[in-house]
Amino acid sequence: MGGSFVPCEVPVNLGDRSYKIHIQWGSLSEAPTLLGRHASAEPSHSGLGKHLFLVTHPGVQSLYGEGLQKVLSREGYAVDTSTVPEGESSKCLEVASRLYDRMVEAGVKRDSVVVALGGGVVGDLAGFVAATYMRGIRFVQIPTTLLSQVDASVGGKVALNHPSAKNLIGAFHQPSFVLIDPETLTTLPDREIRAGMAEVVKYGMIHDESFLAYIEDNLDDLLALSPDPIETILRRSCEIKAWVVERDERESDLRALLNFGHTIGHAVEAVMGYGEMLHGECVAVGMLAATHMATECGLCPPEVGDRLRRLLIRIGLPVTVPSQHTDGILAAMKLDKKGRAGKMRFVLPEGIGSVNLVEVTEEALVAHALDSIMNEASGNG
Ligand SMILES: NC(=O)c1ccc[n+]([C@@H]2O[C@H](COP(=O)([O-])OP(=O)(O)OC[C@H]3O[C@@H](n4cnc5c(N)ncnc54)[C@H](O)[C@@H]3O)[C@@H](O)[C@H]2O)c1
Ligand SMILES: [Zn+2]
Repeated sequence: MGGSFVPCEVPVNLGDRSYKIHIQWGSLSEAPTLLGRHASAEPSHSGLGKHLFLVTHPGVQSLYGEGLQKVLSREGYAVDTSTVPEGESSKCLEVASRLYDRMVEAGVKRDSVVVALGGGVVGDLAGFVAATYMRGIRFVQIPTTLLSQVDASVGGKVALNHPSAKNLIGAFHQPSFVLIDPETLTTLPDREIRAGMAEVVKYGMIHDESFLAYIEDNLDDLLALSPDPIETILRRSCEIKAWVVERDERESDLRALLNFGHTIGHAVEAVMGYGEMLHGECVAVGMLAATHMATECGLCPPEVGDRLRRLLIRIGLPVTVPSQHTDGILAAMKLDKKGRAGKMRFVLPEGIGSVNLVEVTEEALVAHALDSIMNEASGNG
């Protein structure tokens, strides 16, 4: 596949924690130069290699890690690689603890750099370990899933799961650099691409109507992973996430708008048992339910929901969940609400490109929103 090979850099301006997101087709092969430039991780001329501690999954290691290690070693970097099993279960204290052991063995020091190569699981885990080892050392994100390229790798939220809740143990630790090579998406399963597109649609819905129109107009090329439109949506998504994070790094208010579709989406995810439906698929139905709620409250014209629904269907995302889960989803949302002083807050659209954080006290509104995404029969739609 061709590609413009024109690099694009999105800055994330956070004072002394500022960094760049570099987006360029094929840029993994340029990692040595880019890391030197952006993560002050240049090997010294004394012959002593700069030390990198690479965290990835075995599958991603054979797809991209081995090649990356080769180009880095050739340029004088010393690279130690640790692989962790795939899946959410690796985001736990036991796996983190094993990584600390490996880091001690490998002689990771304050000036070493942790490199996360993979999806959001590796990014959250390696980022957490980097945030806590020696009270925090530098880390670089090299995200290889669409979800992690447009969301998880940017913004500095790093976390592990606790048996009682996802992402319960975490920190804010900004990466020193994010390197996105969209070419890595060519090996990602099609379903993961479609699920990641839900988060891309989310950015259009919360902040930019013309971006949503761009996704609609270029959808076939996007799903075929044409380099130019893919680079465009990665850039715009990262710009919007950076814009929000710059204004509210620690999620006091504005950053919560990124949770559009997630209040109901997380409940769906919890009830469907983390696996049956992917995160992005749950966000898709969550965005539709929230839009339905906004329309019922008189905040948003019905055309908004119709347009969103058409786009999600074209992407191949689910727009309903089986109706036997209604009670479970409502219960999961109430449980979640308990953690936030009894308040049920939703991000509701007013139109495309504009959302608001709204406190919803009427339980019937929530129940109706859930009804709108329930599927009595089989199939989607
Ligand atoms: N920190 C944040 O701000 C933030 C935001 C959103 C999500 N997250 C977290 O991200 C995680 C989900 O991330 P995800 O959706 O990337 O899932 P993931 O990290 O589990 O990756 C999905 C699968 O794709 C494989 N894979 C990765 N890159 C590949 C490639 N290029 N080719 C082929 N296979 C590849 C992985 O090995 C894995 O099996 C969750 O734990 C979630 O909590 C964090
Ligand atoms: Zn999400």
